[in-house]
Formats: sequence, structure tokens, C-alpha cells
Amino acid sequence: MKKPIILVNYKTYETSYGKRGLELAKTLERVSIDTSTEIIIAVPATMITRISQEVSIPVYAQHVDGLPEGAHTGAVLPEHIKDAGARGSLLNHSERRVRLDEMDDALKRMKKLGLESVVCVDRYELVVPMGLLYPTAILIEPPELIGSGVSVSKAKPEVITNAVKEIRKVEGVYLIAGAGISSGEDVFISIKLGSDGIGVASAVMKAKDPKKVVESFVLEALKAIDQK
Ligand code: G3P
Repeated sequence: MKKPIILVNYKTYETSYGKRGLELAKTLERVSIDTSTEIIIAVPATMITRISQEVSIPVYAQHVDGLPEGAHTGAVLPEHIKDAGARGSLLNHSERRVRLDEMDDALKRMKKLGLESVVCVDRYELVVPMGLLYPTAILIEPPELIGSGVSVSKAKPEVITNAVKEIRKVEGVYLIAGAGISSGEDVFISIKLGSDGIGVASAVMKAKDPKKVVESFVLEALKAIDQK
């Protein structure tokens, strides 16, 4: 059975850093081990080292710059995140867009370093063009639903079904769907529609009991995969 991908983007929520960020990582690691699911966490750059030293689940950066080493104040390079212990990075999130040439530069460097990459797109029409840069996965998220609590699975299922059709034209790239994912049912629908998993932020980062939330996501994800 294929493992569903659950990608938790920490963003800059108040639970994303320090002791709380680390505790959340440990909680998600527990769920991942107990359920044999792939839970990826995309954490603030300053937390990569600390978290990746303490947990075994994949730790991603939320962004990298495709700039060469040298005089680039404030840039975070693929080499930096690899050295810090990251397994990969998000790229081109709606909240952190990058130019296409910069993305290509970053992806090429990441590949050379053996880093995974999840490129975000806001519409299905970009699945093939971005997919042809061969990231590890494409994460499709309609920006208007991000953080809304209204899921792409329920509000815009056609975005997922169209994206799934498109990703089939590109070999070896996973398709993840996100934006507003809040319940196990949202996860179930997304995977039933053909995605390989989901991306989530607010429903986990703002939850009183993130373990419960992620457990319900994983449970429904496994159920959906089972029924495929
Ligand atoms: O990267 C995932 C993220 O943008 C989704 O955010 O808060 O709608 O789950 P949210």
C-alpha cells in the first residue's frame, strides 16, 4: 500500500518555533511512527537544526533561494538547509513566490545535493509547466482558501481532479492538495479524488490538540488509500 503524504507547514504561527515548535514535531513523529505514514514538517529556517536533531520525520525548509554562495545578505541557500539537517524544501508558496528562473536554479542545486522539493502552484494549469522542472511533488493550493477553514476538497474539488489529470502527464512527480484542509473528511476526499496526500497549516498549528487533528487526518488518508 502506498503511503499518503501529510505535509504540515508550520509557517510563522506562534506554535512554529522554540519549545512549542519542537514539541509539535515530536508529537507528529509519534503519529507518523504509530501509523507508518509520511508526515513531513516544513519549519522556520531557524528551527531546522534543532528539530532535525530531535526527530526522524522529514524536516523541510519553507523556502530556499537559488542564489550561488557568496555576497547575498539574508539569503537561505540549498546548501544551508542541507547542512542544517533538512530533507528538502517548499518552493514558490503563495506566501513566498519566486521567479521561475530562480526556482529552476534552486531546484537544480537541490537535486545535486539530494534534497527533496515541493513546488506550490495556485492553479491546475501550472501543474505541467512546473512539473516539467521535476520537483519531488507539486502542491496545489487555491490561495483564496488558504487559512480559511474551507477546504479545497469541498469548495473546489475540480481543482484537485484537474490537477490529478495534469500530473499524469509528468512522470514521477507526486501531487499534493492543500488550502483550508480542516477535517479527516477533507483529507479523505482529496485522496479519493486522486491526490497523493495533503498540505495543511492552520488546522494543525492553531489546534488545541494537534495530535488529535493529525491522527484523524492520517486515519482518513489511510482509509481513502485503502479504497483506491
Ligand atoms: O502550505 C499549506 C498551507 O498553505 C495551507 O494552509 O492554513 O489553509 O491549511 P491552511
